[in-house]
Amino acid sequence: MLKGKKIILGITGSIAAYKAVLMVRLLVKAGADVKVIMTPAAEGFITPLSLSTLSKNEVLSQLSQNDSWANHVMLGRWADLMLIAPVSCNTLAKMAHGACDNLLLAVYLSAVCPVVLAPAMDEDMWKHPATQDNIRRLQSFGNQLIPVNNGELASGLSGEGRMAEPEEIFQFISSFFKTSNELAGKRVLITAGPTYEMMDPVRFIGNFSSGKMGIALAKECSSRGADVTLVLGPSHETVPEGLTVQKVRSAAEMYEACKKVFDDTDIAIMCAAVADYTPAEPAKEKIKKSGETLVLNLKKTTDILKELGAIKTANQTLVGFALETNNEKAFAQKKLEAKNADMIVLNSLNDAGAGFGHDTNKISIFDKKGGEVNFDTKSKTAVAADIINSIISYIHA
Ligand code: CTP
Repeated sequence: MLKGKKIILGITGSIAAYKAVLMVRLLVKAGADVKVIMTPAAEGFITPLSLSTLSKNEVLSQLSQNDSWANHVMLGRWADLMLIAPVSCNTLAKMAHGACDNLLLAVYLSAVCPVVLAPAMDEDMWKHPATQDNIRRLQSFGNQLIPVNNGELASGLSGEGRMAEPEEIFQFISSFFKTSNELAGKRVLITAGPTYEMMDPVRFIGNFSSGKMGIALAKECSSRGADVTLVLGPSHETVPEGLTVQKVRSAAEMYEACKKVFDDTDIAIMCAAVADYTPAEPAKEKIKKSGETLVLNLKKTTDILKELGAIKTANQTLVGFALETNNEKAFAQKKLEAKNADMIVLNSLNDAGAGFGHDTNKISIFDKKGGEVNFDTKSKTAVAADIINSIISYIHA
């Protein structure tokens, strides 16, 4: 899996830096070409000599060394993957805010490849809102996180913040390369977020969808090599670089955007919470307060999933979502039929941690071939991976 893969291993100033020796060994043994970059602080924990001997490449740490300039841009472009393990609290903060006071940071800012982070620090530092904010910010850039372990820490205390073991990091990277090409050449259309249906120039009918699930799906497809178009309703979430994003507001705009690209789509995932009804005639001017009640005349919107289901070919895979509050399974299966979808992802508002706004979700997937899988509550990133794995299995079944 790792044979011939070009990996930059960034090492920062943390006691866990000693584990980098084993990390390099595992990667090199698996056939990867490893170049190590250390921050100046890392050199206090581990010698470049051990790392250059094991990696069979010169270890870099300065922007200029021996009268020559280290070309951080070319290093950033050379790599198939950049792993920073351990990444300290300080380097995390600098990365999150674009600081560039050493070679590792310059390469990070120039890297066009996926970046994987394995943090290491004491529990209090790890749990501090500033660190957690930085982590979220880096994840929003598309950087992947290898979760910290709970165990013995450098301070002598025990808790969260211990870097994952080299074997675990190696596992993560191996499966990353295994999946990174699975959707190469596939064009994926994803709808996400709410829609706003205008009542008058200043008011709308909307819903609480955040867009998080659809964005996680878009990121997952993109990381597996797909060419992704994300049709996104009004969401306040940050969308990572590298995705084609078409921002829309209403159900009608979302439908138009989907119609334009659907013919050239291999997989369409309709994750948006689309309004079923829209004001029949939005007022041209602001509606003034008058009577005790206000009657709003609504008309049906186009059901995008159903429309696409009616025109889809045998080579296209169409996935819908169902958010239900009662009779969940029956309603989800009915939607699968009625909208001619290949799969329906059900989330029930009765499950804690599922649905709008949460960072987690709990889903079941039903498919046209009679398949049913029930998943546990997971982060939306992990749920996205489950959904994409299910779609890939369905296509190959
Ligand atoms: N959907 C759509 N266009 C619409 C309404 C819904 O594409 N105008 C899609 C959603 O993106 C989702 C699926 O249809 O993938 C199911 O949406 P949901 O609101 O649960 O179902 P509805 O068909 O609207 O039925 P109901 O609201 O009665 O449950």
